[in-house]
Amino acid sequence: MTSDRQAALARAQAAYDEVRARGLKLNMQRGQPSDADFDLSNALLGALGDTDVSMDGIDLRNYPGGVAGLPSARRLFASYLDVKSENVIVWNNASLELQAFVLTFALLHGTRHSTGPWVHQRPKMIVTTPGYDRHFLLLQTVGFELLTVDMQADGPDVDAVERLAASDPSVKGILFVPTYSNPGGETISAAKAARLAGVKAAAPDFTIMADDAYRAHHLGTADDTVNFVALSRDAGHPDRAFVFASTSKITFAGAGLGFLATSEDNVKWVSTYLNAQSIGPNKVEQARHVKFLEAYPGGIEGLMRDHAALIAPKFSAVDEVLRAELGEDGTYATWTTPRGGYFSSLDTAHPVASRVVQLAEQAGVSLTPAGATYPGGNDPHNRNIRLAPTRPPLSEVHTAMQAVAACIRLATEEYLTARNAAPSA
Ligand SMILES: Cc1ncc(COP(=O)(O)O)c(C=O)c1O
Repeated sequence: MTSDRQAALARAQAAYDEVRARGLKLNMQRGQPSDADFDLSNALLGALGDTDVSMDGIDLRNYPGGVAGLPSARRLFASYLDVKSENVIVWNNASLELQAFVLTFALLHGTRHSTGPWVHQRPKMIVTTPGYDRHFLLLQTVGFELLTVDMQADGPDVDAVERLAASDPSVKGILFVPTYSNPGGETISAAKAARLAGVKAAAPDFTIMADDAYRAHHLGTADDTVNFVALSRDAGHPDRAFVFASTSKITFAGAGLGFLATSEDNVKWVSTYLNAQSIGPNKVEQARHVKFLEAYPGGIEGLMRDHAALIAPKFSAVDEVLRAELGEDGTYATWTTPRGGYFSSLDTAHPVASRVVQLAEQAGVSLTPAGATYPGGNDPHNRNIRLAPTRPPLSEVHTAMQAVAACIRLATEEYLTARNAAPSA
């Protein structure tokens, strides 16, 4: 071991010990809005008055109304997703639930273009890595084998998607985040989206499941969003795409509305099964959201601008602290600087992500578990860490990122020291 290396390790250890001695208790783990974000929507709670018992001529208190949602809610979120009302189903509080419904209906019955239920076909689904742990959990829980492709700066590796889709009819589709992806913040380019919509698949029922959770969650200048319903139709696959979104990161997390967009025929297909399991969604919540969001200055766009004013400085802080503490040459780590969404994705230069998360935990900073961005929690390179700076106040983001940087430096020095000390083969 060289003395330089020993000195670097000692310095990193001392800096980490100092951080640990501060007795921090900070959480950068889950992508949740802050209380200040929630406060922007508090008027939602009282958006319906005592006499607001109907909307669109439908009594909000009674069963009748249909499974696709209140007409006003469908209109509002159709405009949000850049489609017609007829293409939209507005449901209850979670887009993940709608994703689970579509997957389950396909497994049990097949989609409109299937030769039979997917469950009999050992179905596989393509996901992007690094990606969203709840997508992996959902798909694996209902019985899909996962195939991974890289998430690149302009969207999924479509060459890899084309190869996988062309080779095997049990590859039933891809589930990914098209705008400001979780965790890297990447947005799919128009060119890649068009290629994906037109992929030549061995499966006649190849399906694009676009989880557009962050479609309007710009931090500054807005990335262009894509319309998979239109792109698929134009590519000759009108029923190929399902687009999912919700108000979880617009109003209240898990206490708002999930909705989907797809072809009109698919709306009928989904509605058939929804109708068997529910008389309809919660119309009171739908009416409340319509009233609140239409009354907000600038509508949904205005609300998202107000969120951005709260959130963008936190992402700037992540980038500034990491640059100041770790430098910009990639010696310790590289990270994404997202233009929107809720996360930043950090890759350590060496395979030390799990050690970084452990050191951070010991220093009182809770990070997303290492590996969470890969299926089965298994990052083959042990390098990726998802950073979620939206929930803590800005001052805590600064402190937490300084602590994380100290952990990265120590984990790296430990690794390099151990590698140097290992007998050569
Ligand atoms: C990509 C993505 N999709 C879906 C969700 C959850 O959405 P919902 O609350 O509508 O189920 C999240 C939450 O973090 C997310 O990051």
